[in-house]
Amino acid sequence: MSAPSVRERLIVPLDVPSVEDAWGLVDRLGDTACHYKIGHALQFCGGLDLARDLVRDGNRVFLDVKLHDIPNTIENGVARIRDLGVGFVTVHAYPQTMAAAQHAAQGSSLQILGVTVLTSMADADLTEAGYAMSVADLVRQRARQAADVGVTGVVCAPPDLAMIREDVGDDLQLVTPGVRPAGSEAGDQKRVATPGEAIAAGADYLVVGRPIYAAPDPAAAARSVIEEITQALGERNA
Ligand code: C5P
Repeated sequence: MSAPSVRERLIVPLDVPSVEDAWGLVDRLGDTACHYKIGHALQFCGGLDLARDLVRDGNRVFLDVKLHDIPNTIENGVARIRDLGVGFVTVHAYPQTMAAAQHAAQGSSLQILGVTVLTSMADADLTEAGYAMSVADLVRQRARQAADVGVTGVVCAPPDLAMIREDVGDDLQLVTPGVRPAGSEAGDQKRVATPGEAIAAGADYLVVGRPIYAAPDPAAAARSVIEEITQALGERNA
């Protein structure tokens, strides 16, 4: 598979309340962005048609639906998602779930991403949920399992990048939210990195939302992230 373009490496989440607002943001970004993430908020109010239309217009779409169910149901769901023409789709990184999704995606351009551990989970939350493991250990275990199953990649927080990259080498694409350009508000993200730091630590794709869509000029904010990605890739590959 060929390396993504720098523009494709920036994923802008369409975290807005309606499809109309999403088109407004896409229009404001113009040619600066070409890779959009659609999550639960839009999924239930026209987001799947939006995904089809964005793909029709030449964009890449990441459907962030975080599927998790019995293998047969996952296979049936992923088989329908294939028809949308989207690129990435997320599933929770349980081996059974990833294997079923990977099986259903085979032979298509759909790429499966495993969500290792939700970034809202701390060690105490895992204990409460019945896991006798730290977040770091579970992230590591699930990333290894994702590589063993052969999915395209995982979604992980910036501090987990270096550890996963060291563990799995180039076997997984790493997609990272929690990215904040220097000087921007962290908001509710607790473990953040700048675009340059995330790329240096091994990220392949960055999900950057509020610093772009809440900026007075979203296209200028996106351009500046893309410049930082370009520079960090140059240094990483030097
Ligand atoms: O606005 P912000 O840059 O924080 O947006 C980050 C995006 O990445 C949101 O769509 C959020 O749901 C998503 N995400 C995340 N942390 C995860 C998984 C997804 O922030 N662990």
